[in-house]
Amino acid sequence: MKVAIGCDHGGFHLKQVIMTFLESKGIPFYDFGGYSEASIDYPDIADPVANAVASGEYDRGILICGTGIGIGIAANKVKGIRAALCHDTFSAHASREHNDANILTMGERIIGPGLAVDIVDVWLTTEFEGGRHLRRVEKIMALEEHES
Ligand code: RB5
Repeated sequence: MKVAIGCDHGGFHLKQVIMTFLESKGIPFYDFGGYSEASIDYPDIADPVANAVASGEYDRGILICGTGIGIGIAANKVKGIRAALCHDTFSAHASREHNDANILTMGERIIGPGLAVDIVDVWLTTEFEGGRHLRRVEKIMALEEHES
């Protein structure tokens, strides 16, 4: 599994922790930035990460900002993306099993590094259950085809 990861300045330190975890597990990833604590607009990072996942170049994405909210809203604007904000392991598990989430978002200002690593571990190792959930996910994706 290849993971695309990114953050804004609000998520920079937590991203470093998550990348160390991915390295320890031997999970290949690419860091799309930001590369320092310098201020950066979260849509500018959500865009390349979400497109890398939507195109199939990467299997999953992880996006971190201060709250996980803005960067997730931005990622969900990209066709094919189901970004889930998870600050507990139950949500992380359910977002994969029920929603087939392909991007995980978290907020560095909300959770600590230990919980964040557990969330990533659960999220990366939980499979989509399919069945009745597939029908619902297909209905979500059909919304992208609607004229507004
Ligand atoms: C940046 O200050 C902050 O607004 C951002 O990291 C995020 O929390 C937005 O949703």
